[in-house]
Amino acid sequence: MTSPHQPEEWGLPRSSEAESPGKLPPQQGAAPPPGCPAHSAVPPQQAMAYPQARPDAHQPVKLYGPEFAADPARSYAQLRQYGALAPVEIAPDVTAMLVTDYRAALDLLHDDTTWSKDSREWMQTIPADSPILPMLGWRPNVFYSDGPAHVRYRDVIVDSFKLVEPHELRARVHHAADTLIQRFGARGEVDLIADYARLIPLLMFNNLFGLPDSYSDRLIEALAGMIEGTSPEEAAAANEAYTAYIMELVGSKKAQRGADLTSWFMDHPNGLSDEELIHNIILVMGAGNEPLANLIGNSLSRMLSDDRYYNTLTGGALTPQDAINEVLWNDPPLTNYSAHFPVRDVFFHGTWVRRGQLVMVSYAAANSQFDTSSLEVPGSGGGSHLSWSAGPHACPVKRHALLIATTAIERLTAWLSDIELAVPASELEWRHGAFHRALVALPARFSPITPDQAGATPWHNRDSSPTSSTRSEAISTERQPASAR
Ligand code: HEM
Repeated sequence: MTSPHQPEEWGLPRSSEAESPGKLPPQQGAAPPPGCPAHSAVPPQQAMAYPQARPDAHQPVKLYGPEFAADPARSYAQLRQYGALAPVEIAPDVTAMLVTDYRAALDLLHDDTTWSKDSREWMQTIPADSPILPMLGWRPNVFYSDGPAHVRYRDVIVDSFKLVEPHELRARVHHAADTLIQRFGARGEVDLIADYARLIPLLMFNNLFGLPDSYSDRLIEALAGMIEGTSPEEAAAANEAYTAYIMELVGSKKAQRGADLTSWFMDHPNGLSDEELIHNIILVMGAGNEPLANLIGNSLSRMLSDDRYYNTLTGGALTPQDAINEVLWNDPPLTNYSAHFPVRDVFFHGTWVRRGQLVMVSYAAANSQFDTSSLEVPGSGGGSHLSWSAGPHACPVKRHALLIATTAIERLTAWLSDIELAVPASELEWRHGAFHRALVALPARFSPITPDQAGATPWHNRDSSPTSSTRSEAISTERQPASAR
């Protein structure tokens, strides 16, 4: 059972650009808290404003736990009192500085001369068994590298994803969505997080990296064990299962290439070593898995808890794209990340940051500096959010991620057109971690659908198996998803 205390994973086993900046929000005007060394009149050298230096003056604000999860906006408002950067605790005894100001976030994300992604030096300062390491522990991949090494890895990823055609991707999402809906369609009830949002990315990655559907349950079980395992033994077993899955994937593509991401990574002219190949596959799966699940889950939760979307399901005005856009503005799937380390002491937007200190960006806090309240769909226009990050490390796969999320939501709501929340929206619980904005569960109910019912169903659908040569005959439009018409 998923709990709010799940650990957070980006690199998985322990082992674009932002929307082009539009109108910038006003500069920070908040008065500094009394005695704040970052704003005092003393020369900057004496105003070392980071938590380890002045714990009494700057108690870090806790960026995890039930209070933070219940009302992150309140924590961000509190953090803004410090100025553009504020001291936070991201896990027990692990502190960082968090950028909450939009303009400062852009300055940091675009300056790869001052700011490095290499976490190796910083890792020496935290315990080797810290629960934060899966999110921040260095590995030889795109995420932790700078300059030419970063470009070399990133080109492999970007060029390979470019080979996935949008119409082909859409058909693959239909197939993944239909496979899952077949599993719970006859029940009339579902946890849209555990049974749908968390599984879509895994089915998609299994397919895009080139393994047959029969392998997807292995991937699901290994990752579920890593995320939900309660004992170190369970976690170790799941880690082993995941490593075995990746080794088998790479082994099978070495034996025979296919039209898939693994083969394209292998054959890319940038020539990754085996170690680099494996770490970058693991990183891409890890980077995509949780944020994509949360984009789907958070958007579905908006659609099912807001009458404007409910009406849409039965012919109203707002679309899944509107819900996704609202989520990207207000509940970014990755909420606080972009871990950076300055290569020298730097005076940044009013605060001294020491060389090697961990600094992260709060996409959620930066986004909220835009006043979107007057818009019909908050966040549907005016300015640009930072939820894909910005600069050289911005999400390289945002178009694919958007297409997958939109199609997965359209497919679900088309097959299960009367789907509704099974609990009041106010009872939905958020997970407690610092990095992700993620629901614990999203229970919903709908009129059951069965394989033997008349008309089209996910069981008899002509495009549900894009790689299959035996597609079913033309289907009636009686119960055909709008997206397939
Ligand atoms: C198919 C799904 C996805 C894949 C394969 C993917 C892949 C990646 C990769 C490889 C990176 C590292 C880029 C680099 O360091 O140069 C990255 C960064 C990032 N992605 Fe995605 N991503 C996906 C979906 C998403 C979603 C849904 C979101 C949230 C809206 C998101 C937000 C981000 C952000 C904020 C970063 C920057 C993180 C940082 O620098 O700390 N991604 N993504």
